[in-house]
Amino acid sequence: MTTLEFAHVTKRYRVRGSGDMLALDDVNFTLTSGETIALVGQSGSGKSTIAKIITQLEKATSGTVLLDGTPIPTRGRGLRRYRQTVRMVFQDPFASLNPYHTIRHHIERPLRLDRVVPADQVEAETRRLLDRVRLEAGVIDRRPHELSGGQRQRVAIARALASRPRLLVADEPVSMLDVSIRLGVLNLLAELQRESDLGVLYITHDLATARHFSDRIMVLHHGVVVEQGPADDVILRPQHEYTRALRHASPDPDRHFSTTTTEG
Ligand SMILES: Nc1ncnc2c1ncn2[C@@H]1O[C@H](COP(=O)(O)OP(=O)(O)O)[C@@H](O)[C@H]1O
Ligand SMILES: [Mg+2]
Repeated sequence: MTTLEFAHVTKRYRVRGSGDMLALDDVNFTLTSGETIALVGQSGSGKSTIAKIITQLEKATSGTVLLDGTPIPTRGRGLRRYRQTVRMVFQDPFASLNPYHTIRHHIERPLRLDRVVPADQVEAETRRLLDRVRLEAGVIDRRPHELSGGQRQRVAIARALASRPRLLVADEPVSMLDVSIRLGVLNLLAELQRESDLGVLYITHDLATARHFSDRIMVLHHGVVVEQGPADDVILRPQHEYTRALRHASPDPDRHFSTTTTEG
């Protein structure tokens, strides 16, 4: 079991000319392998800042992030190992892949850097990963622009899984995709989560998919976690006024989804 913990994490951004911007205020939570937590909140509430602190693209101003009880390493081998354990899928499948490189390159890179498999098995492992995200083998020598947004996001997921992480942070992974293919990608993430017993932090502003795809929901408002609990409780019996407001603003948090994977 792998557990990531935020203990009293605060983040201030320096903003030139207008003082500091308090993006996170005393955030506390744990994410454990095997569970999916949805992090919801409107734009600007601090969701991506949490993702960036987890993946160390940003540093917390105060507080501690712990992996299995130990503060996460900031340098060297420890940091490399941490980055193998905790992977990220970004919002924009167009910006997150390098247009000059093939799909093969994108997936082989972490396999080689992290020495996941012996060199002579890298190609087979790459094909296995493409298969796991339901991409046909033919995409391996294509470049990102030849793929649809949904296919690119599947490549990003395959790349994230290449290092055999224990935790996955998905920051609005389908919000830039066509509405018609979003569920296919979310169902895929859910399947992979179960197969690999991953811990997933699913960041979204969509309460309906938050409820359907997660065990717990954490509600962020102006950098403060105003509510967290089992998904159904948070949606059906919101304790905080802001959660109720989000619920009212949401098209249909009660809607249900089929769990069969659709094209995307
Ligand atoms: N690099 C930065 N410098 C200054 N302010 C930032 C920076 N990144 C984010 N912010 C501010 O921090 C707040 C939270 O942003 P973010 O974490 O991106 O929210 P979300 O992902 O929920 O939309 C916003 O007010 C945003 O403008
Ligand atoms: Mg964001």
